[in-house]
Amino acid sequence: MNMTMVGLMIGRENTFPQPFIDTVNRKGEAKGVRAEMAILGGAKELEEPKYKVIVDRISHEVPYYRAHLKSMAVLGTVVVNDPFWWEADEKFFECTLARKLGVAVPKTVVLPNKSYIPDINEGSLRNLQYPLDWKGIVEYTGLPAIMKPNTGGGWKDVYRVDTMEELLWAYDQTGTASFGQRPKTMILQEFIQWDDYIRCICIGRKHINPIRYDPTAPFHARYVVDKPVEGRVRERAIHDAIALTDALGYDMDTVEFAIRDGILYAIDFLNPAPDFDSFSIKGANFEWVLEHMSDLVIGYATGAAEPPWRKDHRWSHHIR
Ligand SMILES: Nc1ncnc2c1ncn2[C@@H]1O[C@H](COP(=O)(O)OP(=O)(O)OP(=O)(O)O)[C@@H](O)[C@H]1O
Ligand SMILES: [Mg+2]
Repeated sequence: MNMTMVGLMIGRENTFPQPFIDTVNRKGEAKGVRAEMAILGGAKELEEPKYKVIVDRISHEVPYYRAHLKSMAVLGTVVVNDPFWWEADEKFFECTLARKLGVAVPKTVVLPNKSYIPDINEGSLRNLQYPLDWKGIVEYTGLPAIMKPNTGGGWKDVYRVDTMEELLWAYDQTGTASFGQRPKTMILQEFIQWDDYIRCICIGRKHINPIRYDPTAPFHARYVVDKPVEGRVRERAIHDAIALTDALGYDMDTVEFAIRDGILYAIDFLNPAPDFDSFSIKGANFEWVLEHMSDLVIGYATGAAEPPWRKDHRWSHHIR
């Protein structure tokens, strides 16, 4: 039988890839679906893609992959998550969207960059208000506040600031050369003094697994498995996580909520390559991920399910 291929693209993770490939192969065999690690080299524009489905967990770090995946998408490959949308998405946009969807988020302000690459001078910045109204900004977010990159992950460059001095110091850091090749755009956000915290693994825009999460614990101990999320909080988390991931079109994502006075505030839901490592999400959650991720890709591979986003792209209506 001619097998329909699913390709997996990964970064440094080691616990998810082989069990995922094995699960797809076990469940997909009778349906003619086979999974493997995808290998990509230099591609020609009309190169027939080997893969009907790609699970992409690393193109945010390897720009060549993304260039190649966008071309594969035109040629009919289903790429999870949609590389066009992933590239465009940002945390501040998501906060505005969340509010329009009726999902609570911390009060958030996007800040102009602290500095620019050398070729940008005053002439380039004539649309920028200067100086910034820091007082007004902080009156809105309150203190303490969180300053974090508009795109990013891994807790990189996330600052908690308790005073105006700390805020300005942190903002100044984001303009230094050591901060990265390009100074980052930052958002400033009300700090939610939470009494409970949960993280939801979200697959296929409808399967939501809310897990209690302790952001103060060391990395491997953050997912708490012996205190299940139940009742109203569970229902609300599932409801809001579906609203967010369905609107964003993410087939794999995690959505984090800080809970204060019974209100679930969505803290971070721009996680299109979510942590699937067995040592962090642990046994039953890991099995849950394998189950739903394999069903997702087998559905796309066999044509039983169609990704919603392809038709969102204007170009898709101009090609056959
Ligand atoms: N507004 C906030 N109020 C309270 N805590 C926050 C807020 N924003 C961020 N945090 C804390 O900082 C942590 C990191 O922030 P965030 O999740 O936005 O960054 P990230 O780099 O995308 O992290 P990850 O890699 O875990 O997705 C959160 O898990 C949370 O504990
Ligand atoms: Mg994140």
